[in-house]
Amino acid sequence: MQLTTNCTFLENELLDAARLFQTRPQTIEHAFRFEGGVFYNDFAIDGERYSFKDEGQVCDEILFKRLERRFAKLRLYELLSKKYDVKMPWGALTGIRPTKLAYAEKERGEDFKKLFAQMGVCDENISLVERILQTQEGIYEKKDGNTELFVSLPFCPTKCAYCSFITAPIEKTRAYIPAYLDALDRELLAARELVGNLRGVYIGGGTPFALQTDELARVLRSTAPLFALNPQAEYTVEAGRPDVFSEDKLKLLRDFGVNRICVNPQTFSDETLQKIGRKHTVADFYKAYETSEKYGFTVNIDLIAGLTDETPEAFSKGVESAAKTGADNITVHCLSLKSGAKLKEEISYIENEDISDMIAASRKILDERGYSPYYTYRQKYQAGNNENTGWTKEGKACVYNIDVMEETTDNLAVGANAISKRVYTKEGKLERFASQKDLKTYIANIDEIIVKKRKFFKE
Ligand SMILES: C[S@@+](CC[C@H](N)C(=O)[O-])C[C@H]1O[C@@H](n2cnc3c(N)ncnc32)[C@H](O)[C@@H]1O
Ligand code: SF4
Repeated sequence: MQLTTNCTFLENELLDAARLFQTRPQTIEHAFRFEGGVFYNDFAIDGERYSFKDEGQVCDEILFKRLERRFAKLRLYELLSKKYDVKMPWGALTGIRPTKLAYAEKERGEDFKKLFAQMGVCDENISLVERILQTQEGIYEKKDGNTELFVSLPFCPTKCAYCSFITAPIEKTRAYIPAYLDALDRELLAARELVGNLRGVYIGGGTPFALQTDELARVLRSTAPLFALNPQAEYTVEAGRPDVFSEDKLKLLRDFGVNRICVNPQTFSDETLQKIGRKHTVADFYKAYETSEKYGFTVNIDLIAGLTDETPEAFSKGVESAAKTGADNITVHCLSLKSGAKLKEEISYIENEDISDMIAASRKILDERGYSPYYTYRQKYQAGNNENTGWTKEGKACVYNIDVMEETTDNLAVGANAISKRVYTKEGKLERFASQKDLKTYIANIDEIIVKKRKFFKE
């Protein structure tokens, strides 16, 4: 597909809208102009011409840019939706944070539902967003200085076929672990001065439990003085894959005050687990889950819709099984295939007719089982243009997930491939600082990273 426009800053927006469709035109030509309070968008789709006029009251440059983007994208979406006779669940919205957009509309005194309907978002998704905003009441907080601490442990027992996270099988990276843990110690020591009002600590991956117990103990020891700044804060370890769980590791977490963990089956079918290269069974999951409960953790379970050969019926049964465990949180992901994932080489575009049924079924089952949706986000190349949604039992929502998804809180992220964010509430802006992705470069640049991160959070 070739796309040309006279307005270069609209190029990515238009491409994002066109990429929502599995079938695409060969050429899209676009021209934009603004005259007498009217936004004109002219398109030629494979040579066929269309013109649109939209009126919009413009009082400043920011609003002008917003409407310029909105109308161009909406009109292209509508054209392609009609041409290929297909509607997307999120309509012309291509951003990864629908709830953040809803909050922005609310802050402007507008009803977000009006904008979402105008952009073609389906009724079910408008209701989903409305429910999420309700669940977030009392947790969502926009205040300068609120901080989440993230510690990155990009190690995994083996690489799952669908995963594009920057993480490697631990046998290939084991040699870097001592130097990596040294670097983390130094970052965590330097971070003590940078933390504001600590809301949560999240040790994530990869698979933190891929580390040995003594290695994990070192990370927890170095994190302890930061957690001590607010012992009431939420403390999560994304322990991860059931095949690396042990009572020793769980006991260690409990001794350091960790109160939440993730035990992720992804699917409740042994056949699927084998196909996606996860080296554990459903029985391993139950064992890890039950042991985690014994230690009193709040537990999250991750599932993925759209895994190899899984039917909607099999997926629904999996959601039922997940709900039956009584887990406090269940996160339902939709398969997203990015480069870096082994599965991507085998499938270029996922057959996604069933995905929307799977998502609809998961919503119904979890709702009936007493779960409420508490955060949602979208990713590129996600099957059926759906989303990932976290569900929670009452009072158990993960504050870290909300703070990070809504981008209301500073994220002080340490380790390789950690992206720190600083939120400037009054100015309505957000800045990012990313550390090096690969272990070797991260370790080699640790002095510079510490200096730069201090500057990033202090100046
Ligand atoms: C950063 S991973 C860490 C979890 C942990 N390592 C594990 O596998 O149990 C977080 C979650 O992202 C989801 N995920 C990873 N790759 C995905 C993909 N390609 N599409 C959809 N969800 C994905 C999985 O549900 C996974 O549990
Ligand atoms: S899904 Fe989890 S365990 Fe599998 S490769 Fe990705 S981060 Fe590692």
